[in-house]
Amino acid sequence: MKKIVILFSGNGSNLENIAKKLHGKVEVAAAITNNPQAYGIQRAKRLGIPIEIIDHREFPSRESFDEVLVQTIKQYNPDLVVMAGFMRILSPIFTKNIKNAINIHPSLLPLFKGAKAIEKSYASDMKVAGVTVHWVNDELDGGKIIDQACFHREDESLEEFAAKIHELEYNLYPRVIANLLDISLQKASLSQEV
Ligand code: GRF
Repeated sequence: MKKIVILFSGNGSNLENIAKKLHGKVEVAAAITNNPQAYGIQRAKRLGIPIEIIDHREFPSRESFDEVLVQTIKQYNPDLVVMAGFMRILSPIFTKNIKNAINIHPSLLPLFKGAKAIEKSYASDMKVAGVTVHWVNDELDGGKIIDQACFHREDESLEEFAAKIHELEYNLYPRVIANLLDISLQKASLSQEV
């Protein structure tokens, strides 16, 4: 079975969604977080996913954190590294060593890079909004786009807008992962329903 490692920093709803939708088709070899308080740790525990906590505050520099992160990822030899709400700016130590990492960003890149993308996208006068899955390179949210999904805006509140964005993420990200790993997601979801 193909293996992925998921990197996260907070809530972990994408982590849980990916693990459930790809259950039986992809092995989530580990979930790695830089935040010992991340709620996603509870989710990973419930799902029986091995957890690695690497607290970035214990490292003197971005590079020294990234070195340990890279070593930890390599131990699992994943086919794909999946970033899902991993709130760290990566140094070249990471991007030179890990070439098979993807990220999801809650905007239609190249618009609204960086933090607070949902708020920035909501505040804009764009009539469509959406999410992007892209390869990770050394430019923040700047790697090659793999796929996107969008919706036409109505008169949503910020909360409703954010909920639509997350729904798009939950639909798109497992599909992209399945495609990249050459796995049939239809079969994956059918096997869950049985
Ligand atoms: C998602 O909106 C993702 O696009 C962004 O951070 C959020 C993570 O949410 N990069 P969660 O931790 O998966 O619930």
